[in-house]
Amino acid sequence: MIDSPQQIGPIGVFDSGYGGLTILDKIRQELPEYDYLYLGDNARTPYGNRSFEVVYNYTLQCVTKLFEQGCHLVILACNTASAKALRTIQQNDLPKLDSTRRVLGVIRPTAEIIGEITQSRNVGILATEGTIQSQSYVLEIGKLFPDITVIGEACPMWVPLIENNEHLSDGADYFVKKHLQHILNNSPKIDTIILGCTHYPLLMPKIEKNIPANIRIISQGEIVARSLHHYLNRHPEIEKKCSKNGIAHFLTTESSEKFKSSASIFLKQTINVQHLTIN
Ligand code: DGL
Repeated sequence: MIDSPQQIGPIGVFDSGYGGLTILDKIRQELPEYDYLYLGDNARTPYGNRSFEVVYNYTLQCVTKLFEQGCHLVILACNTASAKALRTIQQNDLPKLDSTRRVLGVIRPTAEIIGEITQSRNVGILATEGTIQSQSYVLEIGKLFPDITVIGEACPMWVPLIENNEHLSDGADYFVKKHLQHILNNSPKIDTIILGCTHYPLLMPKIEKNIPANIRIISQGEIVARSLHHYLNRHPEIEKKCSKNGIAHFLTTESSEKFKSSASIFLKQTINVQHLTIN
């Protein structure tokens, strides 16, 4: 059981590192009145090449911490965690921890909108190895739009480039080009590419430079923000437990100073960060 008596609290937003900031940014634009508590597990990032069991354990620890800090609703702003941990947390852990709290992911809302976008019915997914291996996008899109072919491409170097603030360097071009060429050479019918990792929008300038103009690139921030908005409208029992002062606080399992300087590049604002120890 969760030891947190607060009746209301911020909406928790979790990622393995900085990537979830791309989601939080859009959520705050869509829903500015709420409070947010962001947790980046920067000390243990990246999650993308870790086993199912490790990603699940790390994610559960982080969700539990966010619950203890008073969050009643947590968004896994991480595809890898959504792919490997969300279902087990929802089905097995929430009933034991606190059945009134909620955890949502980013894959289902992305899958839901894709049918309206692709004309060729061939969609590419760029994501971490973990997300691609889990087949989560293939399964989720297949349930909703069985006529769509989903082609996955793992980009294992992209998250480390971003976490190390090298994503705009000349060296990053090589890794961006390599995966875009590979997926388009293998599947020339693709007309839509989903950035299935919340870190990847930070590589957008390089992605746009290396892709034909007729291919749509979908990043998840606005999709997840709109989906959360609808969720809160549909679930007043959860909405009333979300505090509303328009404030965001940030937690990191790494050094707070390091997080502050990198996150302010991504968010273009100075933020309030505290270190959190997870054992
Ligand atoms: N932002 C995470 C995702 O969406 C990155 C995972 C990682 O740490 O490798 O998948």
